[in-house]
Amino acid sequence: MRALGLTLACLLVLTCLLVAASANGQVASSRTDEKPLMAEDVFKNVQVLKGIPVKEFLNTMGFFSAATNLNCIDCHSPQSESLEGYAIDTPRKQTARRMILMVNAINEANFGGRHSVTCYTCHRATDRPEAIPSLLDQYSVPEDDPDRVEVIPAGPVQSVRQISADQILDKYLQAIGGAPQLARLTSFIAKGTYEGFETFSAKVPIEIFANAPNQLTTVVHTQNGDSVSTYDGNHGWIAAADKLMRVLPLTGGDLEGARMDAFLSFPARIKQEFQWRTGFPSVSIDDRPVQVIQNAARGTAGAKLYFDSESGLLVRQVRYVDTAVGVIPTRIDYSDYRGVAGVKVPFRRVVTWTDGRSTIELSDVQPNARIEAAQFATPAPPKGKPQN
Ligand code: HEC
Ligand code: HEC
Repeated sequence: MRALGLTLACLLVLTCLLVAASANGQVASSRTDEKPLMAEDVFKNVQVLKGIPVKEFLNTMGFFSAATNLNCIDCHSPQSESLEGYAIDTPRKQTARRMILMVNAINEANFGGRHSVTCYTCHRATDRPEAIPSLLDQYSVPEDDPDRVEVIPAGPVQSVRQISADQILDKYLQAIGGAPQLARLTSFIAKGTYEGFETFSAKVPIEIFANAPNQLTTVVHTQNGDSVSTYDGNHGWIAAADKLMRVLPLTGGDLEGARMDAFLSFPARIKQEFQWRTGFPSVSIDDRPVQVIQNAARGTAGAKLYFDSESGLLVRQVRYVDTAVGVIPTRIDYSDYRGVAGVKVPFRRVVTWTDGRSTIELSDVQPNARIEAAQFATPAPPKGKPQN
């Protein structure tokens, strides 16, 4: 956990730098541009990680920190007071570049170019990988990580257990109110609080706008301006006050995640919209047994959902985003279910990912509210900041 706080502090600094760069007109801003902005268009000294969107580049930095337990300034110049600071080469940064090339070469030569070996394979959250096997590891009981990603091989989806994904989902739909009740909830506006690193761990207001079957907009009113994430049923965007002062279209795993969140807001079609598989080893969350299903997107890491075996309620989602060097997980824990027009809705959500943790607590959910279509359009760039 040592690196986490510093990593977050670092991301905040970076944010300001990017905002400054934008204000200086060094970075072009475009409201409707759907083409993701590439790392080398924004950053000054990208030698290896070229041709990937800015969001994926920053996700990759998150992967590095998580894999090595080094925070941003452990690799970057300690005086990263300008954007140039991140562009400066340090010995560690140069080592990391060599490591990227080494890992690519290993994967090319041995694993058909797949990300079979990643930074984490050796580093396991330390900067100095162990070379000598530990007897302690060998003779202690290994703990199973229930969040572990399982990439589904191409080919027919098989279930090894008796209980099917459909049965688990039927129980869930029943537990939150049943199909007829679910059909009556067609939209909602939720209000509450958000707490995370970009709010300096203070509680700030959040608003969630949702339209059945699959439109979802979340607005966090941070001290620096609004952070907006939108999924309109097909496309998704984030316009985060703390990230780049611009609208970043979501792609890949980020887009799949937005789609999943939208459908989970109105779960009536959750069975049909995804291809679920089950048959995972039994696991517990907080000492309660759970049943696990996974979205069986072939050859990729599909989201996993965890349902309380007794109540049938959804307690966790874990999903994965591909970076330039491997996959990183995001976890969402759901609790405090309360009735909204006869449908049970989780009022508390805790989101954990490589860059930090945030808590959302709803206080008021207004069912079947009228929401303007504009609420689900491409968000405007964050307000209150200089534009060019
Ligand atoms: C393990 C070392 C390592 C860690 C930890 C790390 N980085 Fe990097 N970073 C690199 C390397 C290597 C590059 C250059 C990549 C290339 O040349 O393709 C880079 C490049 C960058 C750049 C581009 C700078 C420019 O203008 O060229 C930014 C911005 C950046 N990192 C931000 C971060 C942030 C924010 C964090 C913390 C979340 C972080 N990095 C953590 C190794 C690291
Ligand atoms: C095949 C195993 C292996 C993989 C994969 C690997 N590393 Fe390393 N890495 C090492 C070893 C071993 C060392 C320590 C070398 C030493 O003792 O000087 C090291 C050292 C480093 C250091 C220097 C740490 C320090 O003490 O200054 C950085 C930074 C680093 N690795 C980053 C990465 C990144 C980023 C990746 C993924 C792109 C990666 N490594 C993948 C084996 C690996």
